[in-house]
Amino acid sequence: FKTKAHNRLFHADTKVQAIAHANYNVVFDIDGVLIKGKQVLPQTHRALGLLQANNVPYIFLTNGGGLRETDKAEQLSKKIGIHISPRQLILSHSPMRALAAQYEDKNVLVVGGNGSDCRCVAEHYGFKHVVTPEEVHAVYPSVCPSSDNEARSVPLAEKYLQSVLRPVEAIMVFHDSVDWGRDLQVMLDALVSKDGYLTTVKSQAELHTTKQTVPLYFSNSDLVWSNEYPTPRFAQGTFRTCLERIYKDMTGHSLEYTLFGKPMTTTYQYAESVLNKIAPPIHYGIDGTPKPRTVYAIGDNPYADIAGANAYGWQSVLVRTGVFVPEGNENHHTHPATAVVDDVEDAVRWIISKEI
Ligand code: G3P
Ligand code: MG
Repeated sequence: FKTKAHNRLFHADTKVQAIAHANYNVVFDIDGVLIKGKQVLPQTHRALGLLQANNVPYIFLTNGGGLRETDKAEQLSKKIGIHISPRQLILSHSPMRALAAQYEDKNVLVVGGNGSDCRCVAEHYGFKHVVTPEEVHAVYPSVCPSSDNEARSVPLAEKYLQSVLRPVEAIMVFHDSVDWGRDLQVMLDALVSKDGYLTTVKSQAELHTTKQTVPLYFSNSDLVWSNEYPTPRFAQGTFRTCLERIYKDMTGHSLEYTLFGKPMTTTYQYAESVLNKIAPPIHYGIDGTPKPRTVYAIGDNPYADIAGANAYGWQSVLVRTGVFVPEGNENHHTHPATAVVDDVEDAVRWIISKEI
């Protein structure tokens, strides 16, 4: 059953209600667990309903992104048919919000998805000078002659195009690229340029003797992800692998970068802070200290969801509806989960049975 009080706890952007919630939390992966591309998996609704009925706080931790948290929460709520608050949702780039202070006045090349959506995310986080590969392409049509630069229905704003002339001081990949050729080219151009100025390039000697000067960040390291297609699809990690190889061939140096998203610890620390906000400790021992809560992470990707949860000391539940498709009942060979189950509903039932 669900009470109004329960609904308030989970449905609100308002303060967490002072009602007793369970002393365990569930962290859902999204792609391959709750949805596959455009389709919502049939077990999703029942799984979320079970947690609501048992008053278990839950959040969503995805390596997807490319939208503001509010927009993604709205999109997901409509798709799943259950209200999801932005406060419950962590995207791959959400922890990168913290970089805004460091790069506030610097010109940042933001890569991925629909350029204007990622620009919107970056500005929302507080980045003041943003440039996208799409804008570079608009200013320099020959930057990638094989890509279509004419399909845009709305012209790009002149003020954004001005940023193309400023040096690139950092590169941040927020989402999967929708135009790999163009984006790899523009990122490489910035990485081998003189002081970040596009259209310039360091001398061969300088390229081989000096280190990378433009810092680079990726919001997710997944090689693959799971949509409606029968086998896993390329993700941001595959894109990064291409960049690494080209950079190495061109300069002789290994590409240097910082990763965010699952399975990185920074992302789990961020998730823990979100859990502390939506479900502050209310269970105390006789000595007055909060009782440690158990966190269960449900995911489909052993290298992201299971590796990350295991390393952070959470319980991990691996489903068979996404990237992980074993021949039989076996666990993953490198990153074994605490439990392996068929789907997200079985995962939630297993978690609840452990906590009774
Ligand atoms: O690009 C991979 C990303 O879409 C995976 O999302 O929800 O499985 O972490 P998720
Ligand atoms: Mg997944």
